[in-house]
Amino acid sequence: MVATIVWRMAYIEAVNLVKTYTPKGAPVVRALDGLSLSVPRGTVTALLGPNGAGKTTAVKVLTTLITADSGTATIDGLDVATQGSEIRPIIGVSGQYAAVDENLTGFENLDMVGRLYHLGAKASRRRATELIELFDLTEAQNRPVKGFSGGMRRRIDLAGALVIDPRVLFLDEPTTGLDPRSRLGMWDIITRLVATGTTVLLTTQYLEEADQLADDIAVIDNGKVIAQGTSDELKSSIGGQTVELSLVSEADSASALEILRSHGTSAPDVSADQRTLSVTVASGPAALQSVLAQTEARGIRLHDAGMKRPTLDDVFLTLTGHAATVEEEEKAS
Ligand SMILES: Nc1ncnc2c1ncn2[C@@H]1O[C@H](COP(=O)(O)OP(=O)(O)OP(=O)(O)O)[C@@H](O)[C@H]1O
Ligand SMILES: [Mg+2]
Repeated sequence: MVATIVWRMAYIEAVNLVKTYTPKGAPVVRALDGLSLSVPRGTVTALLGPNGAGKTTAVKVLTTLITADSGTATIDGLDVATQGSEIRPIIGVSGQYAAVDENLTGFENLDMVGRLYHLGAKASRRRATELIELFDLTEAQNRPVKGFSGGMRRRIDLAGALVIDPRVLFLDEPTTGLDPRSRLGMWDIITRLVATGTTVLLTTQYLEEADQLADDIAVIDNGKVIAQGTSDELKSSIGGQTVELSLVSEADSASALEILRSHGTSAPDVSADQRTLSVTVASGPAALQSVLAQTEARGIRLHDAGMKRPTLDDVFLTLTGHAATVEEEEKAS
C-alpha cells in the first residue's frame, strides 16, 4: 500500500547549535553541543532532559534572547541570529521562572504586556480580560501578583505569553513546582492551545508530561538531542518489553536473576531489597511463559510476575546510561 505523504514543513528548525559559557576561573561549559531539532507546524514537541541538559539554553537561542556560537536556527524560515525583530512579534515565551511584575495586579500585568506590544489601550484591556477568564484568574485579577501562589504565577505568566496570540509558543518547564491539580489544569490549557493550531515547544523533566502533551519528544542530554520520536517510537526503539518478578523471599534472588539474565536483551535490574527483578526482553509473552516455567521448576515463590512496555524513564536510562533524575540528585547532595 502506498502511504499518503503528508508534507509537514518544520516550523522550528535548529541545526547543530553550539553554545558555550566560560564562567570566570572555571572550565568552559558546552551548554549546547550540536543540538538539532525539528518541530512541524501545529504540533507540540517536548524537549525532555534532566537538570543542566541545555533545555533553557536552547529555548533562549530559539527565542532570540541569546545567540549561539555556531549552528543555525529558524522560526517559520526566519533566522534567529539575524531576523529577531521579525521573529519576536510571532512568538510567545513563558520562561522557567515566571516573569511578572510583583507589584502590579494580575490584570495590570497582562494589560501592560499588551501595551508593550502596541496593541492599544482598548485592545490590551480586552485581551487581558479574555485571558483572565481563560486562565480562571477572575478572583485574583485585582490582587498584586506578590500575593499569588506558585500555580497562579505560572498561569499569569503563561497568559502573558499569549497576549499577542502567538503562532508559536515556547514553554520552559511549564509545570515545575505545581501541585498535581494545577499541573492537570496547565496540561488542559496547553492541549486547548494546540487544538487552535499553535505550534508549541515545551521543555520538561517529567516523562509523563512529555508523554501526555507532546506529538514528538526530543530527548536531550549534555546539550544534544540523543533521540527524537513519538512516545511510542521511543519506547519501541529501546526494544521489546520488560518482564518483572516480585519474589516472596530474597533468598531466591540469585536463581531468579540467573533465569532473567538468560532471557534478557540486556542486564537485569534488581531492586535494593533484592525482591523485585526485571529485564528487557525481545518478546514479552514468550519470555514470560518461559521465565514462569523455570521459576516454578526451581521452586521460586512469587508474589507477582508480569510484563510491561517500557516507560519513558526506561528509554532515558537506556539512551543515556543514567536515570533522568541523576543530576538533580547530585545537585541536591
Ligand atoms: N549563564 C550561564 N553561565 C554559565 N553556565 C551556564 C549559564 N547558563 C547555563 N549554563 C550551564 O549550561 C548548562 C545547561 O544549562 P541549562 O540552563 O540550559 O540547562 P536546563 O536543561 O535548562 O536545566 P534545568 O532543568 O536545571 O533548568 C548547565 O551546565 C549550566 O550550568
Ligand atoms: Mg532550565
